[in-house]
Amino acid sequence: MTLTEEQLSAFERALREKRALQYDSDYESLHGPWFLEVEFDLLKKLLNPTKGDIILDLGCGTGRLTTRFAALCRRVVAVDRSKGSLEVLRDRASGTGTSNIDIVLADLTQSLPVQLAATKAFSVQLLQHIPSAEGRRDVIRRVYGALAPGGAAVFLDEVHALSRQLRSKPREVARKDSLYFHPFTPQEIRKELRSVGFGSVWTVGCGVLYWTKYRILSRALTRVDVLLSSLPGMPWISKFVATIGIKSPNEDVLPSPQTDAWG
Ligand SMILES: C[S@@+](CC[C@H](N)C(=O)[O-])C[C@H]1O[C@@H](n2cnc3c(N)ncnc32)[C@H](O)[C@@H]1O
Repeated sequence: MTLTEEQLSAFERALREKRALQYDSDYESLHGPWFLEVEFDLLKKLLNPTKGDIILDLGCGTGRLTTRFAALCRRVVAVDRSKGSLEVLRDRASGTGTSNIDIVLADLTQSLPVQLAATKAFSVQLLQHIPSAEGRRDVIRRVYGALAPGGAAVFLDEVHALSRQLRSKPREVARKDSLYFHPFTPQEIRKELRSVGFGSVWTVGCGVLYWTKYRILSRALTRVDVLLSSLPGMPWISKFVATIGIKSPNEDVLPSPQTDAWG
């Protein structure tokens, strides 16, 4: 039976609400306790947050990364459609004394209740769970529209890596009893960003050493991971791909065609 986009989306939404309180521990069981450091260090390196920045965290969930970024910038605008996840974020923010997060309950594939505006943006494992190419592009377009000229966005999602391709893993998983999942090839996600207007686009790996689960020399390995991530070809052998898009400082200038130098 072929499931509709609405059915797949509704399953995801219900699961997020049901598991909101357990999300962080579920995530840690799946990826190990050290992977958060890899994600955070890599995003920090790519976005270079400063105290003047307003940063969007799209599909922020329970805010694993939100409060960490809030400590580095002026404000974070955190958007998610899961009420339960945003409640966890609210508790996390008050628990850490963080007061510079604006929390927005919204479905990023629909028209939004507020106008988003930011200097930088990131989304971690959001696009991969949006069950249509149009929906994924809508989100990317929305991020582009919210960014100030010259602003940067990073999209971090699972990659349809060589190991998946060699094992003939499917391009997408769309079942009634599990989360919809669309891993990206590096070319595909770069093309998506360029299609909405991002002028400069490139990809790096994230989780090059993911297979080690960073069990020994943990902090050192997470740092090595981030150093390796920018080497050519890394997105193909990593667990995730991080795609960086820069909005032209002058929006009237058409983006020039990019060469695929990375990955
Ligand atoms: C895998 S979780 C990632 C959460 C967070 N970024 C993190 O790294 O922990 C995906 C998140 O995207 C949110 N999400 C999925 N589809 C969405 C949509 N259309 N609009 C807004 N949020 C959405 C879910 O509610 C969930 O919190």
